[in-house]
Amino acid sequence: MVSLSLLVSLAIVPFVVGQATDTNNTQFQIEAIQAHFSGAGIVPSLLTTFDPEALLTISYDGVSALTPGQALTKTQVAPTPVLAVTPANSTVSLTGSFTLVMADAGPVGTDETQGQTRHWLVNGVTLTGSAPLNVSTTDGVAITSYAGPAPAQGSGAHRYVILLYSQPSSFAAPQGLDTANTPVSVFNLSDYVKTSGLGPLVAANYITVEEGTATFTPSSTAPVATSTLPVPATSTGGSSAASTGSKTGSAAPTSTGNAQQSGAIPKISKTFSVEVLFMAGLATIGFLFN
Ligand SMILES: *[C@@H]1O[C@H](CO)[C@@H](O)[C@H](O)[C@H]1NC(C)=O
Ligand SMILES: *[C@@H]1O[C@H](CO)[C@@H](O)[C@H](O)[C@H]1NC(C)=O
Ligand SMILES: *[C@@H]1O[C@H](CO)[C@@H](O)[C@H](O)[C@H]1NC(C)=O
Ligand SMILES: *[C@@H]1O[C@H](CO)[C@@H](O)[C@H](O)[C@H]1NC(C)=O
Repeated sequence: MVSLSLLVSLAIVPFVVGQATDTNNTQFQIEAIQAHFSGAGIVPSLLTTFDPEALLTISYDGVSALTPGQALTKTQVAPTPVLAVTPANSTVSLTGSFTLVMADAGPVGTDETQGQTRHWLVNGVTLTGSAPLNVSTTDGVAITSYAGPAPAQGSGAHRYVILLYSQPSSFAAPQGLDTANTPVSVFNLSDYVKTSGLGPLVAANYITVEEGTATFTPSSTAPVATSTLPVPATSTGGSSAASTGSKTGSAAPTSTGNAQQSGAIPKISKTFSVEVLFMAGLATIGFLFN
């Protein structure tokens, strides 16, 4: 019996450790954001591709450790969030200047070629401290100071995407977005990035905010199948990912959407199955030798 308990405990150790490192692992969390970006249609409609080299975490006063796409209320997102960046691994070095953008990508299915409302734009952002690095705007130029999301009543669950771009020395702010205190307005994110010479996109994440109940039928081509993604936690009782899912539930997700999701997520269940098999195997050996 002693050897059985020992073997079972030995079998449980990698399971517990494996789970903890899996869910808190930086690379895993980056992959989860990538899967959410594809699932929520941010890729490819807002960003053609998304291959970040760091994890961007968003914390609002009283709401920290947000999951990608987490549904928050207008009140929760009113204060300026605190952002932190963790490099994917030790070979990623994040030095120099960065540009921080928060753009309203609207509800799933929005035609992004029409532009996005700019809620935050800071040039000359620096990363301070050690991992997780603080995203510091104090030495930067706040072209548009943070303006908390306030989507129109019934306009659906808006996706507010926060992006951190590398800002090379050749960066040139385009006319109209080159002075501090430029009010919130619609701009063209991809055009801004292209003409100013920003890039690459180092890290990004997003939240959702919805006022009331959507009064429209979202695009039938929205490739959202939230059942295949890690479920975002919700602090408001109504997960926007879940409501997005039910709204698009009758729509057939595109094959691209499915392919992207199935490629990115099964990691958890694969690791889980391996650990369970490992445990079962060791337990069986324990029984055989008792
Ligand atoms: C994983 O992250 C969560 C949230 O940041 C934290 O509360 C928890 O202690 C972490 N777990 C481990 C094993 O590091
Ligand atoms: C480290 O992360 C970067 C960015 O994601 C990736 O390109 C590179 O292959 C990673 N290196 C290792 C050793 O995992
Ligand atoms: C990073 O930000 C946190 C929260 O705002 C703050 O407590 C901490 O002092 C900052 N660290 C550095 C190195 O700036
Ligand atoms: C926004 O920029 C993209 C890429 O530069 C372009 O394809 C699109 O037509 C622009 N949209 C508007 C409304 O100007």
